[in-house]
Formats: sequence, C-alpha cells, structure tokens
Amino acid sequence: MLFSMRRLIIAIDGPAGAGKSTVAQRVAQELGYLNIESGAMYRALALKALEAGAAMDEEDALGPLAEQSRIELAPAPGGNRVLLDGTDVTLRIRESSVTEAASRVSAHPRVRAWMVDRQREMGQDGGVVMEGRDIGTQVFPYAEVKIFLEASPEVRAERRIRQEGGDCSNGTAVAAVAEEIRRRDERDRTRAASPLVPAPDAVVIDSSTLGFEQVVARILGLARSREMEFPTAQT
Ligand code: C5P
Repeated sequence: MLFSMRRLIIAIDGPAGAGKSTVAQRVAQELGYLNIESGAMYRALALKALEAGAAMDEEDALGPLAEQSRIELAPAPGGNRVLLDGTDVTLRIRESSVTEAASRVSAHPRVRAWMVDRQREMGQDGGVVMEGRDIGTQVFPYAEVKIFLEASPEVRAERRIRQEGGDCSNGTAVAAVAEEIRRRDERDRTRAASPLVPAPDAVVIDSSTLGFEQVVARILGLARSREMEFPTAQT
C-alpha cells in the first residue's frame, strides 16, 4: 500500500497590496499546486461591465452579465493569463479604472454567488492556492490552511508605487496612494456581502515587517505539516 500526500486547499485572504499574489504564486510553485487569483476574476467582470457601459451599482444588470461570462485562468510562465469570453485581458484588468470598478462590482451578492460557484469548481479537488478576500470564510470554509495576510496602508502604498516604477521619496504621493488603499479596504471590509474579515481559524501574518521569503516559509511550514496528516492510502 502506498501513501500519497494530501493535496490541500490553501486560502490566502487579505487586503489589497499585502503581497498575496506574489506569495500565493510562490507557494503554489513550491508545492506544485495550481494558483488561482480570485481578484482577477472580479477584475475581468469589471472590465466587461465598463465596456458594456453598465452601471456599477445595478445588481440586476451585473448579475446576468456575470452569469453569461466565461472567465478562465490559464497557467503560463510568470503567472496566469486571464481570459474573458476567450479574449486575453491579462494586462487590461490591471488598469486603475478596472481596479476601482472591480471593488464596486464585487459588492453585489448575485455577482459573488456566481464567482464563488466558479471558484469552488476550480479548487474542489485540492492542490490549489486560492487568494482573495473571502476564500477562507465563504469559498472554502473547510480549507486546510487559511492565511490572512496584512500590512499597513503605508507599506502597501510604497510597494504599489515601487511596482509601478514610481518614487517613494515623495511623501505626498505615498500618502495619496495610502488613502486610496484605505478607501478600497473600507469598502471591502464594511460591505454587507462577504466582508473582508479573517476567518476565525485563519493564521494572521503581518507582512509589514516580515520579508517575502519569511512569509513564504511560514506558509509552506503550515502546509507541509497539514499535507502529512491523514495521508491518503492508495492501493
Ligand atoms: O485582489 P484584487 O485587488 O485583484 O481584487 C480586485 C477587487 O476584487 C478587490 O478590491 C475586491 O473588492 C474584489 N475581490 C473580492 N473578493 C475576492 C477577490 C477580490 O471582493 N475574493
């Protein structure tokens, strides 16, 4: 009889800019798991809504728009490609107008219900790292590893500016981006449908003071100890 490792569901939630995407990508790579960025799915729908001229506060328009969509994440070197109804929108979903719209479309329960169903389909067999805002609370409440990754708004603002090739020595610019991040967090944390909160059994990691490698090592440590529990018997 052979024993194989369990293939886990690892949920990584937290606010924008806490480092979820890079951490999730690396953890998935180390474990040989699939990496699913749920935010990219909300972004793809937001792009579709912008192009359709839909009002971002109209659930009756946005729900059916989601239900008629095909959003795929296709693994590729350097990260997933995002396909919306068959078209590659990987770069366009990072535009700031889409970022703002994604935060608004994601507030609607009907949109979320559709997204959660798709995300469950993608991750149900395990062997997946899924990152977002509600993965440990709504999408996979039974995930074996749940992480809530945080960082202060100032640290997140500086990371964002550096990522975009900007200059962090300009205090006013950093404060403006930090303010924008705080506003988006506030909307995610206070919305009625699946607000951004840590699951009661999530391990909270603050990446303000920890380096990237330390965060990754901590999550891998948790994952490896869970993989060894109750190994699956294979005959
Ligand atoms: O993670 P990212 O910044 O790409 O997500 C874009 C937006 O999608 C977030 O501001 C958030 O409002 C929403 N989102 C969500 N639930 C998720 C992932 C993202 O509401 N699981």
